[in-house]
Amino acid sequence: MAMIAPSLLSADFAHLERDCRTCLDAGADFLHFDVMDGHFVPNISFGAPVLSSISKAVPAFYDVHLMLTDPLDYLPMFLKAGASMITFHLEANSPVQETIDAIHAGGAKAGVVIKPATPAQAAFEWLDKVEMVLVMSVEPGFGGQKFQPAALEKLSALREQAKKIGRPDLLLQVDGGVDRTTAPLCVAAGANVLVAGSAVFGAADPAAEISFYKGL
Ligand code: DX5
Ligand code: ZN
Repeated sequence: MAMIAPSLLSADFAHLERDCRTCLDAGADFLHFDVMDGHFVPNISFGAPVLSSISKAVPAFYDVHLMLTDPLDYLPMFLKAGASMITFHLEANSPVQETIDAIHAGGAKAGVVIKPATPAQAAFEWLDKVEMVLVMSVEPGFGGQKFQPAALEKLSALREQAKKIGRPDLLLQVDGGVDRTTAPLCVAAGANVLVAGSAVFGAADPAAEISFYKGL
């Protein structure tokens, strides 16, 4: 069964608490929190103060996706704000092992993320050091983009490699353009955590949408 992590980027920020509760009541496993710095990606979203408020109001597993040029510098504030897991990009500037170690030392789970142009093999050396790998199926920065099918081969390659090194439990997440059509393909390719923003919050019935993904 797949896990579902609705992306709060597509929530109604005027009713963030309500939208988080809707997701959790419908069985969402993680709440995906997209942080953008206007530098690593050409967009700005929300930061640690928002995470701090929402994680206090709505206790949950907060899956924080850092789209930052220097993620290592910003870990303390997100750890303090209630991040349960922090993922950061291999394309960013921070030293990878040091960043993973700092996330773990802060008591959170750690993950690495690859953009569409980065091959799956770039993440192979980190598979035994992290709890999750995130494959971006769109260019990071914006919700509502079209799924790039090349992500499917990357998911398969990562799932195969994870099995090979004795990590069948590895969380393999896919993010971008996940909907009722693309989600089953992602699960078949080896993904077990689905991020969905516009598909969940743009649906007439977000709870029904979440149930659909959980059933995959
Ligand atoms: C994009 C973010 C995604 C985004 C996904 O940079 O990382 O999490 O919210 O949105 P959808 O599901 O609409 O593609
Ligand atoms: Zn994301």
